Amino acid sequence: MKLPPQPKGLPISGHFKYFRTDPIQFMLNTADTYEDIALFKLFNKKIYFINHPDYIEHVLQKNYKNYHKSPGYKPIQLLGGMGIFTTDGEEWLRRRKFYQPAFTNSSIQSYTSTVVDNSNIMLGDWDKQANKGQKVNVSMEMTKITMSIISETLFSLRIEFGTELWENTSYALSWLGKRVLKTPFVMPVKWPSKQNRKFHAAIASLDKLVYDIISSKEEKNENPEDLLSRFMNPEDEKLKPFTAKELRDEVMTIFIAGHETSANVLAWAFYKLASLPDIQEKVYQEVSALGDKELKFEDMHDLPYTIQVLSETMRMYPPVWHMGRMNLEEDEIGGYVIPKGSHVRLSPLALHRSKNYWDDPHTFNPDRFETEKAKQQTPFTYIPFGAGPRLCAGRNFAMMEMVLILAKTIRQYKLSYSGPEVEMAPLMTLRSKGDIFLDISQR
Ligand code: HEM
Repeated sequence: MKLPPQPKGLPISGHFKYFRTDPIQFMLNTADTYEDIALFKLFNKKIYFINHPDYIEHVLQKNYKNYHKSPGYKPIQLLGGMGIFTTDGEEWLRRRKFYQPAFTNSSIQSYTSTVVDNSNIMLGDWDKQANKGQKVNVSMEMTKITMSIISETLFSLRIEFGTELWENTSYALSWLGKRVLKTPFVMPVKWPSKQNRKFHAAIASLDKLVYDIISSKEEKNENPEDLLSRFMNPEDEKLKPFTAKELRDEVMTIFIAGHETSANVLAWAFYKLASLPDIQEKVYQEVSALGDKELKFEDMHDLPYTIQVLSETMRMYPPVWHMGRMNLEEDEIGGYVIPKGSHVRLSPLALHRSKNYWDDPHTFNPDRFETEKAKQQTPFTYIPFGAGPRLCAGRNFAMMEMVLILAKTIRQYKLSYSGPEVEMAPLMTLRSKGDIFLDISQR
């Protein structure tokens, strides 16, 4: 059987060591050299790595029924159980229906005031830090604000954000990130290594948070319209209600999926703006043209350049930087037979940085998302929110939240960064290697 070209690897373990040491560079290099399709080997397991928009459209959209989430997603079940992210077929569809009412345009519009209020609290805190001449840790600040927003909008609850919550979430996601990349060649999760014990402790404390969220909702429900209420009492009578375990899994999934991704994009966007003063100035000009009034949902129409900055940030730093699927039946991609049960992997990061589809792909240039230019993009070359039926359920929520936080912050503060280029870290999502600290000064 004809196989796709393979990067050089070791005789027995194949490319395992690259997945362990520098998976980001390995995927970028492979995409650069082999372009459309390549084969990775982890010992005797083959992974088909696709990087052509037609193949991506085929797997995520045209033939999606033949592609379930790959075994690489199994480790995510240690955190989110069998939630919407890791289920397939009928079970996935049932879950997706629970989400729909909370993500309509009017629901998203109703969340705007929570985003604005939380931004004002954060910017007030930054005032104190600026007065003392302290740098701001934007990685932590963005996690804090996005966690608050997700809990207040979707669960109608305020949560206490402390160092422990931040450390536990970061540890769990970094542990899982490594495991997803190396599956199926991972130590059993029950192995009592120091890292495994730390992971279990982090999950136990996140579990406690999720169960506290659920029980406080059961005791007092101040908002029967929010997502958690809809999870507990679906309006659609035909929907089979969640069991207690299903509810826990879904709340954990949305708590993590709903903050970690947007927090990363915002931290990268602030880092880029702080490093590129001309682009920051253009955002400032755009938002200051709206005056001092409080921003509303409708103002997003007048912030096209701010949206372009976020789109460009997600091109260069897509939080979901790789995805995996497994085919139920034999298939053919690019002239190669893909045997039933194969692992197929794709990387929005590699695709978004492909020289075949993007001019000067490693340069941050929001102008490429200017309306007329964006129309000329080849379909399926820009997929930060995925594609096809499994497209991100929270994409419009995320855009609203990110645009308002970015615009409000730049209206009030000038950001600057002096230091070495920040590198990418392959956690579950694409974070920075180390937290990003920026200098801020009041405008
Ligand atoms: C910039 C922010 C975000 C990015 C880049 C992002 C990206 C993604 C991607 C790529 C997927 C598809 C994964 C796959 O097909 O394997 C996904 C799925 C999902 N996202 Fe997001 N996401 C973001 C924010 C959010 C937010 C704020 C929420 C909720 C409030 C959310 C909820 C979900 C859910 C529920 C799914 C599963 C959809 C399904 O399988 O049907 N996401 N996201």
